[in-house]
Amino acid sequence: MTDTHPMSDTASAARRTVLAAGAAALAGSTLAACGGGGGGTEKPAQDSGSAPNAAQSPGEASGSAAGKVLMKSSSEIPVGGGVVLKEQKLVVTQPTAGSFRCFSAVCTHQGCLVNKPENGLMHCPCHGSEFQASDGAVAKGPATRPLPEKKITVASDGVISLA
Ligand code: FES
Repeated sequence: MTDTHPMSDTASAARRTVLAAGAAALAGSTLAACGGGGGGTEKPAQDSGSAPNAAQSPGEASGSAAGKVLMKSSSEIPVGGGVVLKEQKLVVTQPTAGSFRCFSAVCTHQGCLVNKPENGLMHCPCHGSEFQASDGAVAKGPATRPLPEKKITVASDGVISLA
């Protein structure tokens, strides 16, 4: 009977040691998680304009869909003009024969879609801004920022895809 006392003391002492070690480990991992979590939440907030994943709406996915076919034939794009892809909110232009450019079709003033290029200019129907079909630069306000360019590839068979 007197044997059981010393044994249970040893067992409980050992348990205490394990608990203490566990608490220390927990404290360490909590600190690490705090540091990592803080940095992780700051980044997307500062970089929300180009974050292609997470909470972007499906209509905004055009910037991240590398390889996505935009048009089956570059011959649909008139030289000196262009085509607006309303679903993708993009405009593909052909400023000179065989040279193709692609821009966001979302006006940088207040977000309307620009019209298809004519006479080298893309006209916004909302407040009259105009953008150069060759490089997206502002030709006439109220917009002050150019249309962002999207990289594309044109295959030998004329298929145009996002790069
Ligand atoms: Fe295009 Fe205002 S939204 S000019």
